[in-house]
Amino acid sequence: MSKFARIIGTGSYLPPEIVTNNDLSKTIDTSDEWISSRTGIKQRHIVSTETTCDLAQIAAENALEMAGIKSTELDLIILATTTPDKIFPATATLLQTAIGATCPAFDLQAVCAGFIFALTTAEQYIKTGAAEKVLVIGSETLSRIVDWNDRSTAILFGDGAGAVVLSGSNEGGILHSKILSDGKYLSALQVNNNYINQTGFIQMSGNEVFKIAVSSLSTLAEETLKSCGMTAEQLDWMVPHQANIRIIVAIAKRIKTPLDKVIITLDKHGNTSAASIPLALDVAVRDGRIQKGQTLLLEGIGAGFSWGSVLLKF
Ligand code: UT7
Repeated sequence: MSKFARIIGTGSYLPPEIVTNNDLSKTIDTSDEWISSRTGIKQRHIVSTETTCDLAQIAAENALEMAGIKSTELDLIILATTTPDKIFPATATLLQTAIGATCPAFDLQAVCAGFIFALTTAEQYIKTGAAEKVLVIGSETLSRIVDWNDRSTAILFGDGAGAVVLSGSNEGGILHSKILSDGKYLSALQVNNNYINQTGFIQMSGNEVFKIAVSSLSTLAEETLKSCGMTAEQLDWMVPHQANIRIIVAIAKRIKTPLDKVIITLDKHGNTSAASIPLALDVAVRDGRIQKGQTLLLEGIGAGFSWGSVLLKF
């Protein structure tokens, strides 16, 4: 049985169409100055006809290529998404067929913490010996649930996908993972639909989400480092959920990590929910900042609230 679940490949994909802050200011009462200074976001990618599965497929194929394995070698696929293509079947099964895999595949819904929850689940399959090679993806077409007339949310979100291939390993990998949920915050962040009224859009109390995100993720980062007997100086990189630069700066400050050790992609991607962490990870792996053997802290929080962290040796 393998001691660790280790990332052996990363991949990502962004749809080609870019919507800038200036583009948004033509249709809603906002400005590049306001969005940039309050969030750090400059632009986001938006799908035209692509589905969540389409984005996931390219990200997955890129991750499989880097891992050097075929889709038929996978033992499990876990796809984290808030924007599945259909109520059923799971988008993960659409993806399984699209990439030519034959293993079990399921979706996981923990909104912006979805990738952390999926990674943690995959780790358990690998550590128990139930699986050896697992594909974990975060893929979102959030633009389909954004009210483009609501300036308090329309400026934040984008579409995209990120993926990793995990393999059993005895030489490092995930060292610590933790997931948490507290369901009493429904009114702070939700899609205002249910299965009777199908059409719904993101509704958010931005200030409340902001404060809870900073305090939950700072506390969790401190607890994660303590559980591993580590200090923040021993981290090579933090790869946080990309929601707001001010949230990231506040957490980095509290755990005394300089910003040049934090991967930031929200300026170009916006908040892509479950895709944001694997997208940021893949960008930094492919541009050479993240190297094999380095220690990474991944953290994310989303509606529910659900939040979690993964500390790993890359
Ligand atoms: O993935 C997890 C999900 N989401 C998050 O993590 C988001 C967390 N929250 C945030 O990122 C921030 O709270 C926001 C970016 C959403 C809002 O920033 P804020 O600094 O908390 O602004 P605010 O909501 O307190 O609004 C300040 C002012 C208000 O005007 P008044 O009342 O002061 O006159 C808003 O009406 O800014 C106004 N405003 C805007 N102005 C221009 C709100 N949205 C906009 C806008 N453009 N897009």
